[in-house]
Amino acid sequence: MNEIAAIVLAAGKGTRMKSALPKVLHRIAGRSMIGHVLDNLAALKVTKTAVVIAPGMGSVAKEVAPHAVAIQQEQLGTAHAAAAARDVIGRIDGTVLVLFGDSPFVTAETVGRMIARREAADHPAVVVLGMRPKDTNGYGRLITDAQGNLSAIVEHGDADEKQRAIGLCNSGVMAIDGAVLWDLIDAIGNTNAKREYYLTDIVGVARARGRNAVVVEAPADELIGINSRAELAAAEALCQQRLRERAFENGVTMTDPASVFLCADTKLGQDVTIGPNVVFGPGVSVADNVEILAFCHIEGAAIESGAIIGPFARLRSGSRIGVGAKIGNFVETKNTTLGKGAKANHLTYLGDTEVGAKSNIGAGTITCNYDGFLKEKTVIGDNAFIGSNSALVAPVTIGEGAMIAAGSVVTRDVEAHALSVARSPQVDKPGWSAKFRAAREAFKKSRG
Ligand code: UD1
Ligand code: MG
Repeated sequence: MNEIAAIVLAAGKGTRMKSALPKVLHRIAGRSMIGHVLDNLAALKVTKTAVVIAPGMGSVAKEVAPHAVAIQQEQLGTAHAAAAARDVIGRIDGTVLVLFGDSPFVTAETVGRMIARREAADHPAVVVLGMRPKDTNGYGRLITDAQGNLSAIVEHGDADEKQRAIGLCNSGVMAIDGAVLWDLIDAIGNTNAKREYYLTDIVGVARARGRNAVVVEAPADELIGINSRAELAAAEALCQQRLRERAFENGVTMTDPASVFLCADTKLGQDVTIGPNVVFGPGVSVADNVEILAFCHIEGAAIESGAIIGPFARLRSGSRIGVGAKIGNFVETKNTTLGKGAKANHLTYLGDTEVGAKSNIGAGTITCNYDGFLKEKTVIGDNAFIGSNSALVAPVTIGEGAMIAAGSVVTRDVEAHALSVARSPQVDKPGWSAKFRAAREAFKKSRG
C-alpha cells in the first residue's frame, strides 16, 4: 500500500560546469553528487530507484549501479525526463519521489516529512518541497490558495511581476501519488517560455482533476543545486563544515578544523585528535584514541586504536595500522599492514608489506616491491629490527626477531633470530687521508 519509489533526474547537460565529466559525477567530500543523493535516500525504504540519464552517460550508470538507469533520448524538460523512468518504476501503490541529481544535500529526514504528508488522511496527489532562498532568481514560484494549498507552480521565465515577488520557491523535490503519476505526466504540455515539458505543471494538472497539492518547507541551504564550479566549491565548503561538526559531536578534537578535509565516508572514533592540515581521502576508518599529527594525507586506510600517525605521513589504499603502532614523518604506506606496536618512524616506504607486532623499521627503509613489471610482497615477522637505510627487495621474508644491519640490500629470505648484513665490508687504510691531502696540496702549489 505505501510503497516508495524514487526517480532521480540527471540527464541535463550541465553546460555551466564546462566539463567533459557529467555534472552529477563531480565530487563533494570525495563522493559524487549523485552518490550523495542516493546515499541520503538509503535511510528510507525505497523499493525501486531509477536514475534518468542522457545517451552517452554510461559513466553515470556505472557510478549508480546496482540502481537502475532510464535513458531520456532528448532533453525536453523535467516532466519528459520523469516519463523516461516509466518502465523501470511502473505503477506504484504509494509514493514516487522525484529528486534532482545536482541537489546533493536533501536529507532523508526532509523527504521523510514529505512522505508522511503524502500519506496523511487527505491524501494529496502531489507534495512539493518548498524553500525561501535569499535570491529567488531562476526558481519556479509556488502559488498557494486561500487554504494554503498549492494551486500551481510558475516557472521564473513564465512568471509575471506579481508572481516573481513570491518568496516561496520550488526546490524541485516532489512526492507524487504513484497510482496517478503517469496519467498526470501524460497531461503535461509544452506551451511555455522554454517549449519544455515542465514537471512543475503536474500541480496544475492534479488540481484540475480535483486532487490536492501541498507544500512542505525545508531550509534553502539544504536544497542548493549545483550548476557551476563556484557553486561546487561552495557546496564542498558547506559539506566540510557539516562533516567537521559531526566529528566534534562524536568526540573528535581538531586544533584547526578549517584545515582538516574529510570525506563523506570518513569514520572517526572517540578521542581521536587531528592536527592542522590533514586530508582524508575516501575509505578511511580511525578507531578510538588515535592521534594524527599535522600534514598527513590518508586514504583507503584503517587505523586501529591508540596509533600515532605523522606529522607528514602518507597512508595509501590498503594500509592497516595496528593497535598502538607508530607511523612517523615522511613515511608512506600502501597495501601494508603494521602489527600491534610496530614502528616506522622516519623516511620510509612500505609497499605490499606485512610488518609483525613490535617490529622496528629503521629510518630510510625502503621495500622494493616493484620491478617494473610485477608487484611483490615483503613479510617481516614479529619483533624484527630493520636497520636504517635498508632496501628489502621483494619477494622477501624477514623472520621473527631477525635483525638487518643498516645499509643492507636484502634479496634473500632471512631466518628467524638471525642477523643479516648485506652490504660491502668496511675497509680501513691507516694514514691514507693525511697522505692524500699532503699530495694534493703539493700538486696545487706546483700549478701556481
Ligand atoms: C527546476 C524547476 C524549478 C525549480 C528548480 C530548482 C522545472 C520545470 N523547474 O528548474 O521550478 O525551482 O529546478 O532548482 O522542473 N533534467 C533532465 N532532463 C531534462 C531537463 C532536466 O534530466 O530534459 C534534470 C537536470 O539534469 C536536473 C533537473 O532535471 O537535475 C532540473 O533541471 P534544470 O534544467 O536544472 O531545471 P531548472 O531550470 O533549474
Ligand atoms: Mg537547475
